[in-house]
Amino acid sequence: MILLDSVTKQYPGDENPALDSVSLHIEPNEFVFLVGKSGAGKSTLMKMITKEETPDAGKIIIGGIDLDYVKKRHIPGYRRRLGVVFQDFKLLPRRTVYENVAFALEIAGMSGKDIRRTVPKVLELVDLSDQAKKFPDQLSGGQRQRVSIARSVARQPKILIADEPTANLDKLTTQEIIDLLKKINDFGTTILVTTHNENIVNNLQKRVITMKDGKIVNDQKNNGIYELGSAPVPKQPARVVQVPGHALKPRPVQKSTPKLTQKPASKSKPRRFVI
Ligand SMILES: Nc1ncnc2c1ncn2[C@@H]1O[C@H](COP(=O)(O)OP(=O)(O)OP(=O)(O)O)[C@@H](O)[C@H]1O
Ligand SMILES: [Mg+2]
Repeated sequence: MILLDSVTKQYPGDENPALDSVSLHIEPNEFVFLVGKSGAGKSTLMKMITKEETPDAGKIIIGGIDLDYVKKRHIPGYRRRLGVVFQDFKLLPRRTVYENVAFALEIAGMSGKDIRRTVPKVLELVDLSDQAKKFPDQLSGGQRQRVSIARSVARQPKILIADEPTANLDKLTTQEIIDLLKKINDFGTTILVTTHNENIVNNLQKRVITMKDGKIVNDQKNNGIYELGSAPVPKQPARVVQVPGHALKPRPVQKSTPKLTQKPASKSKPRRFVI
């Protein structure tokens, strides 16, 4: 669970706050896109969650942890409980794919035996078993991002946050990475992703939160679409019907019944992936 209550953050020297009384509640196992124009405050919000930045006011509770009480010396330990994926991958260049994932587990205190058991399973999850011995500079951008995701999910975090994970990738690779995030979400991990990619957001039909000038201006809980303004974009225009002898009148659009092809919302308990 991610909870922000009236969170405000103003960077020193800035005229306006980067976050202006932002309140947000994300339930376990949700998949959420965070969108908004450049400078809207998306990365700042992500940094609040990772505790890279601290708010000037407001409360943040992540997975039951009140971040006010996470002391400086405990921040690395707190971050290890989250999965964090970066735009620029942040891989260790002198370590192989296998070692990059293993290292993350090692610093989390996992035993050598468990690491040897876990890494191959995680590499299989991200479809990189055959690349385990390569170094990051021998991989494509998409493969590098998959290593970075493997490293983040290896510790089975309950929450994975990704700030523009596909910004440096082409269209096809972007889709692969989003599919992978969806798979991880299906296994029971809450996912929060920022992106400027309109197609990805519209295709996935998940929750979409829009930020503007440090505020949340729209929160589409289901079937969200990419839009940068404060008013929700109507999915269908109001139909105009002509009644003989009457002026043209717009008729409100009725809510359509769900299509049979739509997947029913699963009621089953989310699975955590078992490694
Ligand atoms: N370290 C910083 N010092 C001062 N101002 C900052 C700092 N980081 C961000 N800002 C400002 O805070 C505001 C929000 O920035 P933020 O990086 O959160 O935006 P964003 O929505 O992530 O944008 P983008 O889509 O370009 O990544 C901007 O006005 C930015 O200039
Ligand atoms: Mg940003």
